[in-house]
Amino acid sequence: MKILATGGAGYIGSHTVVELQQAGHDVVVIDNLSNSNEKSLKRVAEITEKEVPFYKIDIRDKDKLLQLCSEHHFDCCIHFAGLKAVGESVAKPVEYYENNISGTLILVDVLRQCGCKNIIFSSSATVYGDPVEIPITEKCPKGQCTNPYGWTKSMIEQMLIDMQKADPEWNVVLLRYFNPIGAHKSGKIGENPNGIPNNLMPYITQVAVGKRPELNVFGNDYDTPDGTGVRDYIHVVDLAQGHVKALKAVQNKCGVAIYNLATGHGYSVLDVVQAFEKVNGVKIPYSIKPRRAGDIAKCYADATKAKMEIDWEAQYDLEDMCRDAWNWQKNNPNGYE
Ligand code: NAD
Ligand code: UD1
Repeated sequence: MKILATGGAGYIGSHTVVELQQAGHDVVVIDNLSNSNEKSLKRVAEITEKEVPFYKIDIRDKDKLLQLCSEHHFDCCIHFAGLKAVGESVAKPVEYYENNISGTLILVDVLRQCGCKNIIFSSSATVYGDPVEIPITEKCPKGQCTNPYGWTKSMIEQMLIDMQKADPEWNVVLLRYFNPIGAHKSGKIGENPNGIPNNLMPYITQVAVGKRPELNVFGNDYDTPDGTGVRDYIHVVDLAQGHVKALKAVQNKCGVAIYNLATGHGYSVLDVVQAFEKVNGVKIPYSIKPRRAGDIAKCYADATKAKMEIDWEAQYDLEDMCRDAWNWQKNNPNGYE
């Protein structure tokens, strides 16, 4: 298929472009590079031995988008582009709603004008809020998000569902990612956060590489086996392959399809620290700090639906994730710089 990947220079996008190209798809990437570096796509090309056509376009730039989409006849859009820093979204809600929501509205308007009515959207487990059931199935009701970033995901999901209801020619796949970590096994592409990482794994790898003295563990008094927060970490390459499989749903004219992309296993913060130390032979000093505002105790999925309907299942375990995250970080201590 011919695919438009918005935000394809970013962490998940770049890994997905690898898997799409390797599965024989033609991919065109657009990105405004607000949180990424074009070098990621050069690295993708080294892995796949196939160039990645790239246009520096903001999804809010309707004219440029229209021009691009009328030149290329895309079969499907995989929509990764968006701002994703939770803390920043609390400080800059207008910028987050504008970028993520207005951007998506402009994008879908251009896509339909150009006859492409298939979209796969990067959603998040955050739409479940504090989940009413664990493990979380897709039937679990959406909840109250604790920050504007989360609300943008929840609202975009609703917009896309309403759009498909009004025009059943659309096929909309909502992929709810749990906690993507790790990197491509080549060590050529990986997560490259700006400034101090918010998320657990990039923080751990920066401690391991000596950039930060120790990990702050946010809370050890949750109702979990060791008191630290439990999450469903998923290898980014598994996640990327989930997008290739999601194309099947589009081809089968799914209407609206929602899938959790997760492993189905919950691991605590200390489980991740221990797995990282064991597989990489590196010590991760840590200290226990108060809970982080907005955090929940446990979040892990039931990922059976994706297995049954699109034949997707995670292949990699926590040790693979820790090994590959470290392989990327130690080979690229300053990311793509
Ligand atoms: P990322 O920041 O690495 O990638 C997002 C890309 O979108 C970046 O390259 C950025 O430059 C680009 N972008 C942002 N606004 C844009 C705009 N207006 N026009 C064009 N490009 C724009 O983030 P990621 O981790 O790869 O996440 C990809 C998607 O998955 C995002 O939508 C994110 O919210 C979602 N998601 C990520 C996670 C996670 O843990 N990483 C979890 C759930 C959902
Ligand atoms: C966070 C976001 C979520 C987003 C997801 C993926 C919040 C409240 N939620 O989820 O919206 O979709 O990232 O980008 O920010 N931890 C530490 N020390 C750290 C970092 C994290 O102990 O330095 C703990 C957290 O308390 C949590 C676990 O590690 O228990 C995972 O945290 P993180 O990687 O930030 O992901 P989430 O909080 O699940």
